[in-house]
Amino acid sequence: MKKVIEINNLNTEFGEKQILKDVSIDVRENEVLVILGGSGCGKTTLLKHIIGLHLPVSGSIKIFEQEIIGMDEGEFDNTLKKMGVLFQNGALLNSLSIRENVAIPIRQHTDLSEEIVQRLVRTKLHLVDLDEAIDMSPSQLSGGMRKRAALARAIALDPVLLFCDEPTAGLDPVTSAAIDGLIKKLNVQLNMTVVVITHELASIHRIADRVVFLDDGKVLFFGKFEDARNSKISQINNFFQKGIF
Ligand SMILES: Nc1ncnc2c1ncn2[C@@H]1O[C@H](COP(=O)(O)OP(=O)(O)OP(=O)(O)O)[C@@H](O)[C@H]1O
Ligand SMILES: [Mg+2]
Repeated sequence: MKKVIEINNLNTEFGEKQILKDVSIDVRENEVLVILGGSGCGKTTLLKHIIGLHLPVSGSIKIFEQEIIGMDEGEFDNTLKKMGVLFQNGALLNSLSIRENVAIPIRQHTDLSEEIVQRLVRTKLHLVDLDEAIDMSPSQLSGGMRKRAALARAIALDPVLLFCDEPTAGLDPVTSAAIDGLIKKLNVQLNMTVVVITHELASIHRIADRVVFLDDGKVLFFGKFEDARNSKISQINNFFQKGIF
């Protein structure tokens, strides 16, 4: 199966502290890969490396078979256009309406006419079932609606690759299930390859094809979800039994 991302021997440090330690993983075309691990183990940092927000100390990251570390900005912009990101805190701009928030990546990466921009915004908001919220501000939305609006923004340009950092954290079970359903729909119906960071057991059951389990910055397990569930490694076993790291 084709690898859309290939990461080899990635190392990160913040000051004296080593965060990621020799991380090697890949993402296959059209899978949902879930990244698991305790708070502070380096999941968001790994995502930041992939989307070019933070440089690792050493290692290689290939996206669509091209090395992105050391790539010039113009060239990386072409890669970035094919990726959508739902950030951990949603990161909607409070001073802008939902309409304007979803339009941000479209305006940033294309010079489409205003009419087309508006059509794309409406299509994406419809896909996440937020048609009525188009002229609201983020502060007028519930937590689950904010996540869906951020998801609409992440998929505004029909990315080949979608990243979701804790898409269901802090949501009630019904809303979480709806968000997971949307993620699966984007994966199955729109052929997006999806990388999800989550620690919610129910979500993992619903969406994961493969999982990466990070422990203290190292890859403790990387493979099929079924194999992770049957793992004899105590931390992993503990997580799947009790839902805690
Ligand atoms: N910009 C930064 N400067 C210094 N330290 C940082 C920075 N970003 C992250 N860290 C540190 O790196 C470690 C990993 O952070 P990261 O955000 O990747 O964790 P995480 O696995 O996503 O955790 P959580 O599940 O809580 O979101 C933490 O110890 C954090 O304090
Ligand atoms: Mg995080």
